[in-house]
Amino acid sequence: MKTLLDKLEKEHILSLEEYEILLKSREEDLRQILFEKADRTRRQYYGRDIYVRGLIEFTNYCKNNCYYCGIRAGNTKAQRYRLTEEEILSCCDRGYGLGYRTFVLQGGEDVFFTPKKMADLICQIKERYSDCALTLSIGEHSREVYKMWKEAGADRYLLRHETADKEHYRKLHPKEMLLENRKQCLYDLKELGYQVGCGFMVGSPAQTYECLAKDLKFIESFQPHMVGIGPFISHKDTPFADKENGSVELTLRLLALVRLIVPNVLLPATTALGTLRDNGRELGILAGANVCMPNLSPECARENYMLYDKKLSTGEESAEEIENLRKKMKKIGYNVVVHRGDCK
Ligand code: 5AD
Repeated sequence: MKTLLDKLEKEHILSLEEYEILLKSREEDLRQILFEKADRTRRQYYGRDIYVRGLIEFTNYCKNNCYYCGIRAGNTKAQRYRLTEEEILSCCDRGYGLGYRTFVLQGGEDVFFTPKKMADLICQIKERYSDCALTLSIGEHSREVYKMWKEAGADRYLLRHETADKEHYRKLHPKEMLLENRKQCLYDLKELGYQVGCGFMVGSPAQTYECLAKDLKFIESFQPHMVGIGPFISHKDTPFADKENGSVELTLRLLALVRLIVPNVLLPATTALGTLRDNGRELGILAGANVCMPNLSPECARENYMLYDKKLSTGEESAEEIENLRKKMKKIGYNVVVHRGDCK
């Protein structure tokens, strides 16, 4: 087992079967070695720096119906909202003052925000905050639309692939959503020059170790700049209301493995991790993550952007409490920096 990890640390490639073996192993020693290697690898690129992103959840309208997601179109109980342009810009203003140099515009696939409206918004943000990076996380669009937004000034794009296993993808999404389309979006984004993030949930219904091994294999071949990984958490008003939550332990192991596969990857300790475990954020960092994405949305938006039950937006998850986050990171030996935090 140890030799597999040595090989991964040196070569950044394993077979599907080897990934599966590492994921299934219950050896306590292995866990320690894995986290140490991940920490060492991250330090080679990013030292002890932790990058922060101000997350602006600007709309929870969504035309899609993903079975796991609390803001799916079919959830009639969700209180829908959209921030105005002025509200979004004032989030950025607040964030800038707090020391954020990356803003992430995240939302459902909301047809109200037409490609042109988004492009105007992107231009305005980049004009006002030329020293900041702008990340979009607004789902699947055509290459032409992605190109327009890139030309408007967007720097990065987050689009989790959700699962790299075709059959598993079918079980998480209605039939009009296709893994091929999602992957094509990721290829288009990369080709257009975005820093691109893919990712997946851990412990989503019907997921097997083989599915997760495929996720790792996909990441190995796609070479993303960022990877978002968090445990699945059930939402009471979705078809998966009664499904069990994902495991924090397995999520940490996957973070560490991704760090070894793509050594310079930007890897967030996600909100979902912080939601399931009190010190989830810190555990994520210690397993190889190097990014935190606290919430910059206005209060009313935070309450309604409920992707899953009990989603955190207070404490370390709140952009305003960056000092608190700074202290917590300091305690475990890391420094939150005021920086765009590009992929090295
Ligand atoms: N549990 C955990 N993560 C979820 N997401 C959506 N719904 C859930 C859930 N119930 C994740 C998806 C999506 C990202 C924005 O949030 O992976 O890509």
